[in-house]
Amino acid sequence: MSKARIACLVSGGGTNLGALIKAQQKGILTSGEIKLVISSKADAYALVRAENAGIKTAVAVKKDLGSQEAFEARLKKLLKENDIDLIILAGFMTILSADFTRDFPDRIINVHPALIPSFCGKGAYGLKVHEMALEYGVKVTGATVHFVNEIPDGGKIIMQKAVAIKDDDTPETLQKRVMRLAEWKILPLAAEKVSAEIISKK
Ligand code: GAR
Repeated sequence: MSKARIACLVSGGGTNLGALIKAQQKGILTSGEIKLVISSKADAYALVRAENAGIKTAVAVKKDLGSQEAFEARLKKLLKENDIDLIILAGFMTILSADFTRDFPDRIINVHPALIPSFCGKGAYGLKVHEMALEYGVKVTGATVHFVNEIPDGGKIIMQKAVAIKDDDTPETLQKRVMRLAEWKILPLAAEKVSAEIISKK
């Protein structure tokens, strides 16, 4: 049976990409295979992780390309050239336009470091999300994997996992625990679920 061809879009350290690569090696992600990693930053460590795993990489930097349109045109070209079925935003820090997301209905998934609909939407990304949770004073947070549509963090939820907040948490300690206990677990599971659905329709 053929596998869903996955592209991971990244911007930073790439620990979620690392979790997906590990899931492939362990046989947790079997219905899909990461064929391409595209980074929005030239110096993202995620690119090193991909290269170490023998995965093809590409870079698309919005500032260098001059506009959102040119940036998305490059993404679309790379995705088409590599015959990609599923796009995984794994710590990807650029919002995609409605024009872009409309072209890939139910084919883009994202991991967000909070329990949507809390602490999400425009401006809520990375460490900021954990600062927001601590500032609000919630006692439980977590991670969400969801389909991406034209509303930032607004698409259908695929999986969530809760994580308890400790009294002495800082944004950094909370971020690490949410990654370890939630993101790195549910992103590979959701990738497998969606990949299996894609190949069943192929
Ligand atoms: C992760 O916590 C991910 O959930 C978050 O950025 C971090 C990237 O880490 N993404 C967002 O906030 C998207 N709205 P990583 O590069 O080590 O995977």
